[in-house]
Amino acid sequence: MKWIYTLGALLGMGMIALISFALPISVDTTPTPQVITEQPTSAAITDYETWMQLPQQEIDGVLFRHYATVHRTDGTYRQMFITEETLSNWQQSEALPSDAFIVMETYYTPEVESTNFTKLLTEDEFHYGSFSPNRPNFDTRPNNSCMSCHSGAADALGTFTLPMLQAAVNEGLVTQTLCDRSGRTPCGDEVYEQFNFVQDEE
Ligand code: HEC
Repeated sequence: MKWIYTLGALLGMGMIALISFALPISVDTTPTPQVITEQPTSAAITDYETWMQLPQQEIDGVLFRHYATVHRTDGTYRQMFITEETLSNWQQSEALPSDAFIVMETYYTPEVESTNFTKLLTEDEFHYGSFSPNRPNFDTRPNNSCMSCHSGAADALGTFTLPMLQAAVNEGLVTQTLCDRSGRTPCGDEVYEQFNFVQDEE
């Protein structure tokens, strides 16, 4: 998205140059043209529409958007997806809506996909589930073994990647971070709060 801003800035500067040439000397004291404060086109997109720029993925007939990838130093990585329904029901200033549904795909290598993990927000707690990649199953239930580890997340409801989700939705770009611990061991909060945006992820 940076190039848009650069383009915007260049256009702005061009217009200022044009205007200052076109204006007679006598009105040279006019306050600097407002042109410079003109926003690049991307800023016209509302929060509501921005999530629609995230890559779309269909799993078993349900439409999701890819919002985050967490890499591990052993080369494995996990990709997080949230349903379009959740995103369209979500008022950004508020907590995730009830029925929020997240799927996490686990990869050993780009070719070798392992178990998918799911979570569904039911009233004020998440229910958890899992399925093999080739046999989608969105059933969830309260699960203490999942919850006990997830309760260590900064988010009170146990979503480690919530800061990444919020940023991805605001920017319309997939977020990516690196956790240097093995397996599923959580990294510190800062790993999920300091991430990069990925341009043409797919
Ligand atoms: C030992 C800790 C641990 C356990 C146990 C665990 N998780 Fe996670 N889970 C994580 C971490 C850490 C992340 C963030 C991604 C990362 O760092 O790889 C995560 C992310 C997720 C996500 C993506 C949304 C989010 O919360 O960020 C889902 C969905 C998920 N886990 C489901 C499950 C399910 C289902 C179970 C139980 C079957 C489970 N997890 C058990 C540590 C755990």
